[in-house]
Amino acid sequence: MSSTIHDLRIKDQFTKIVPAPNIDTIVSLAKRRGFVFPSSEVYGGLGSAWDYGPLGVELCNNVKHSWWRWLVYDRDDIEGIDSSIILNRLVWQYSGHEATFHDPLVDCRECKSRMRADKLEGYFPDGDRKAAFDANARLRAGKVKCSECGSTNLTDERHFNMMFRTMLGAAADENDPTALAYLRPETAQGIFINFLNVQTAMRRKIPFGIAQVGKSFRNEITPGNFILRTREFEQMEMEYFVKPDAEHFKLVDEWVELYVEWFKGLGIDEGNLKLHEVPQEELAHYSKRTVDIMYRYFPERPEEERQWEELMGIAYRTDFDLRSHSSKPTDAEGNRINPDSTDDLSYFDESTKQRFYPHVIEPAAGVNRTVLAVLMDAYSEKTNDKGETRVILKLSPQLAPIKAAILPLAKNKPEIVGMAKAIKRSLQPVLRAVYDDTGGIGKLYARQDEIGTPFCVTIDHQSLEDEAVTVRDRDTWEQERVKVSDLAEHLLKRLKPFPITMPESL
Ligand code: GAP
Repeated sequence: MSSTIHDLRIKDQFTKIVPAPNIDTIVSLAKRRGFVFPSSEVYGGLGSAWDYGPLGVELCNNVKHSWWRWLVYDRDDIEGIDSSIILNRLVWQYSGHEATFHDPLVDCRECKSRMRADKLEGYFPDGDRKAAFDANARLRAGKVKCSECGSTNLTDERHFNMMFRTMLGAAADENDPTALAYLRPETAQGIFINFLNVQTAMRRKIPFGIAQVGKSFRNEITPGNFILRTREFEQMEMEYFVKPDAEHFKLVDEWVELYVEWFKGLGIDEGNLKLHEVPQEELAHYSKRTVDIMYRYFPERPEEERQWEELMGIAYRTDFDLRSHSSKPTDAEGNRINPDSTDDLSYFDESTKQRFYPHVIEPAAGVNRTVLAVLMDAYSEKTNDKGETRVILKLSPQLAPIKAAILPLAKNKPEIVGMAKAIKRSLQPVLRAVYDDTGGIGKLYARQDEIGTPFCVTIDHQSLEDEAVTVRDRDTWEQERVKVSDLAEHLLKRLKPFPITMPESL
């Protein structure tokens, strides 16, 4: 082995490559390598709550930056906002969430499990979700089965609103309805109530969109599967406002196509994505049509149809929300539908001199579900003849938490260490780089492969003489000698197909 090329022989030995077998593999990697930790672990944890570690926060930020750059920067028809998490309670009254954002809940008297009734075998007569039926009569007649123990000894169902409640003000009494507020269950409403503010301040003409990324909260009855379903999560939502006579269903298809391309650009294999047309009877109260993009989160399940779970949804929300929050619309008797609103969120079209409530196409994606899909798709194991395994996280370079690791070959040589640290500092303004000298070079490479770092830069004895370093590629394990003076340009050129946005630019 030449003095400047390190760890190359190992390349040919590791040939067999396997993808992530299940979510548990990712849970274990995520904890071991500092992506995601179980929350509140020192107190025994908190069911289905997770904390993002040093690499997880970078990965989440990179997903959000990629999304923001794609919609808000690269396009000319979308603005961004950041609204409050706690909004006036009336927002949730008129959005329909107070009345309808609930799940039917039952308890099993045998095994004491608590479950969503409408997910249980036997809940719908003959499996027909459209048929009218009396749920409690079916439960009492023993027609519905517990998903945990199979018993039919279940309680009546109760409707459980999934919004988290809180009280505003230091002196607020728990039962004071005037102090009641909710943590938002979707970021979308913050966009609707700001529609007119954004449209007039930014002088927008429809069609245009408003994007928002932020936390949402739902008191899910059955959270689980790692970060797939949690009570606190992050959404990336965009409301695209169009004319009432636009081709709404076609626009849904167009946004579905754009998002599939975006996910593919994040490194997700198309074979792990599929579309699901949500049946009429399962549509949310505001939707006329919804298409979900599903990801294969459960590749280990033998039945193909059970391998999929929703990654995101694209809905046609009509003018439901803008109309509901507006002061002017009236019902059949001429009474105002919303007597509490002080504003009319309609739009005046200068070209046709018509006033109307814009209709909305809404692509709503989850940050955490995107992160999980990206991790599952990037995961690969390479095994050699001896059965030794190396994990390589083939993250798209735009998402990789660290773009370049700067590794000195001899940590007891002050000149080499000094040169390596100087290179790390010089790269930092253009891309995320780290310095690491906590092991032998083989171990350091393996560690960076496992967290998805696209490039390792090694400084050795010869570097002191020829002012050059070795750049090693994560995926091919190919190594190349590059002059220090050309290093930043070299790395940026190789990263060019995967635009990187530094966090401070958001
Ligand atoms: N504004 C429409 C809306 O909120 P949704 O399908 O309920 O639609 C959109 O949510 C996305 O938010 C989902 O596709 C999913 O990615 C994410 N999401 C929803 N509930 C979640 C939960 N409990 N945990 C993690 N992500 C969730």
